[in-house]
Amino acid sequence: MDSIHIQGGVALQGKVLIQGSKNAALPVLAATLLTNETSFIRGCPRIADVYRMVSLLKSLGCRVSWEDGGIRVRPVCVCEGEMQGEAITGMRSSLCLLGAVLGRCGEIVMEHPGGCVIGERPIDLHLAALREMGVVFSEGNGKLRAVSPEGIHGARIRLPMASVGATENILLAAVLAEGETLVEGAAREPEVTALCRYLSDCGAVIEGIGTGLLRVEGRCGEALRGADFAVPADRIVAGTYLFGCAATGGNVLLERAPCDQMEAVLHVAEQMGSRCDGTREGIYVQSPRRPRLPARLRTAPYPGFPTDLQSMALAAMTMGEGSCLIEETIFENRFRVVEPLIRMGADIEILDPGRVRVRGVSRLNGREVEARELRGGAALVLAGLMAEGQTRVRGVDFINRGYENICKDLRELGARIVSV
Ligand code: UD1
Repeated sequence: MDSIHIQGGVALQGKVLIQGSKNAALPVLAATLLTNETSFIRGCPRIADVYRMVSLLKSLGCRVSWEDGGIRVRPVCVCEGEMQGEAITGMRSSLCLLGAVLGRCGEIVMEHPGGCVIGERPIDLHLAALREMGVVFSEGNGKLRAVSPEGIHGARIRLPMASVGATENILLAAVLAEGETLVEGAAREPEVTALCRYLSDCGAVIEGIGTGLLRVEGRCGEALRGADFAVPADRIVAGTYLFGCAATGGNVLLERAPCDQMEAVLHVAEQMGSRCDGTREGIYVQSPRRPRLPARLRTAPYPGFPTDLQSMALAAMTMGEGSCLIEETIFENRFRVVEPLIRMGADIEILDPGRVRVRGVSRLNGREVEARELRGGAALVLAGLMAEGQTRVRGVDFINRGYENICKDLRELGARIVSV
């Protein structure tokens, strides 16, 4: 499948079931390595990054099988061998295996992890934190080697930036370590909370879950038990369809959407004139024909507006009324979607690498455009829903990294969209 073809101009209507969260499923799957019993992880999305994680776990010796409703992992961890290949280098989340394998085996050799091309995405915070826990790193030939000559021990770690991945790696290394670990300035994203919940279900002792101060009582090498765990629904996928509804003046039910994790997103949608009602079924969204633009939108760590939804909000605003200043504070390079949006007729001015101003226009025109990263690609799909005529989005592999089947989901909401 090479491209997505969209015939724009249809308001989204109906209901769609929101898939499980990619960013929650991946670290939880990595965390199964810290157990010595079978776990069943429900609701894992069927997407490339999850398949990669499954193959990495298998290469480490785990028995892993997809079953109805989830993934069963029996962790027969062999603490030897190198972790390499496309599964590592093609996915930044393979980085959470660093903490998990270190936690279990005390050492690891892995190729440098990859991922989406947004910004520099260094791993200095991960390495500095793990060093404080007794890990010694060396690099060479594109490989990262980590050993803990005296074993991994707890530490008091102050994160200068609330990094999601670094917080997850510290947790994974800390649960089986010797002694207590304190993480100050920890990320509070729901995906970190999901990891803490899974680890706690397996018997780990973690306090301060959901706050910026986490305390882990290490188990001195004693493995955790397994657990039956349900991954939460994907707040970014839910937000994508929510902005699709706002963009097209639709009326939708986002089934299972995690309303409690989406406060900042719902606030922006409401500023844009949509009515959002959270119920036990999910989120009902009713949008006016044309969105109104809030004066300003700023991304921030959770509970702020997520950087992963910035491109979709921007796309939805291109045909709104008024103008909005959008500030990206988490990643540089998250405005690569601006150029194709301008080619479709959007009025967007790049003020500096972290800020754009979008002014609403009355029409976008269908074009052939190219996705260059996951979320920007989804934003181009939304632009295609709004545009007159046909839009073709190439670079679909990027989009498929985060969405099980974006075309099917949007067709369920009445969009004229196919993958070709
Ligand atoms: C995770 C999410 C990603 C989301 C991001 C922010 C996964 C698989 N990915 O990415 O979708 O956009 O959180 O919510 O869960 N930083 C450093 N040094 C480091 C680590 C991070 O400077 O060692 C910086 C980054 O460049 C960025 C900021 O910290 O500016 C936040 O990054 P981080 O929270 O670590 O993002 P990821 O965990 O990579």
